[in-house]
Amino acid sequence: MALPIQDSGLQHCKFEVPEIIFGRGMLSHVGSCARRLGGHKVFLVSDQGLFKAGWVDRVMVSLLEAGLQFVFFDQITSNPKDFEVEEGAKEYLRQGADVIVGLGGGSAMDAAKGIAILVSNGGRIYDFEGANKIIRPLPPMVLCPTTCGTGADVSQFAIINDSRRRCKMTIMSRCVAADISLTDPDALETLPDEYVCTTATDAMSHAVEAFFSVAATTLTDVHAIRAVRLLSQSFVRGVKERRRDDLENLSRASLHAGMAFSNSLLGIVHALAHPIGGYYDANHGSVNAVLLPEVMKYDLPVVQEKLPELAWGLGVKCEGSESATSESVLEAIDSLLDASGAPRSLRSLGVAREDLPELATRALNDACILTSPRQATKRDLLSILERAY
Ligand SMILES: [Fe+2]
Repeated sequence: MALPIQDSGLQHCKFEVPEIIFGRGMLSHVGSCARRLGGHKVFLVSDQGLFKAGWVDRVMVSLLEAGLQFVFFDQITSNPKDFEVEEGAKEYLRQGADVIVGLGGGSAMDAAKGIAILVSNGGRIYDFEGANKIIRPLPPMVLCPTTCGTGADVSQFAIINDSRRRCKMTIMSRCVAADISLTDPDALETLPDEYVCTTATDAMSHAVEAFFSVAATTLTDVHAIRAVRLLSQSFVRGVKERRRDDLENLSRASLHAGMAFSNSLLGIVHALAHPIGGYYDANHGSVNAVLLPEVMKYDLPVVQEKLPELAWGLGVKCEGSESATSESVLEAIDSLLDASGAPRSLRSLGVAREDLPELATRALNDACILTSPRQATKRDLLSILERAY
């Protein structure tokens, strides 16, 4: 089946990505990357799970072989908190570090970004919420994803939890992009099935939302559809059979989806997922798995011209009417989520029904809503949440 490419035009286009290194065994090159960026003392941000799995050791050896000193900082949790990045920044300054390496999922990499913002700009992390609030350049940064969904290694965003307001702050700036994104797909081999599933769902959400975004361009569409294609082929096998080639495809899909959404932004799935994640400290990919099908049902009527490409990505034949193709696309997404064992209801994630109106209100103020293909009202958002409940 040929790819039915839509040319959405390059007349007004900006596409930014870090230097990208991808391949099995590449974690042994982190040291040379950090040294190439001028570092002498590395601030290594990761977590105990990766330490126990041996990946932190692999990076430490690489740093030592490159003749670098390092400090290991692991005081971070999932959905990294304001006070954690502030503590990390104090430690960075106390130790006199001069380059940051983030190793992990979105939490480790977003924490690394938050620390980088504070050590170069001072102030509190809340000062940088929103777009382009960062004045001074950040220290050199190498980000190494060990899951298959976050995209934080290539994105121009940092998501930090405001523990006072119980919400996720979105910090958007070209400055928070890493200097080097280094992906070693081997790291997925120790990631539990549940996290392969939820992070791959995050990647699918990034790809679909980037593709539907009003800021999408030809360049972002190419990466978004490549990600959808790789996910449709390897999502279920990657979770269930854990074959190396499928896990590598999931890593590659995450990278493509990250490049797409960093440049075209996202939509309602993430606008709703951010307040839910902040309110309940819920797993980001699990929330997306529940929301994605409902948001796609809402969006599809206004993105029909992009349907053939999306259908191709999902391996769905475009036969019959547009509404029949839309149904097939939704069925393909549903069957991927069902077969991989992803959560399918907000209730199962511990969301309280009485909180839905407040979550809808908060989503209206999330930056991701700005690039949704449909201008959602609070009633629309509430209706999506009710159906996902
Ligand atoms: Fe995400």
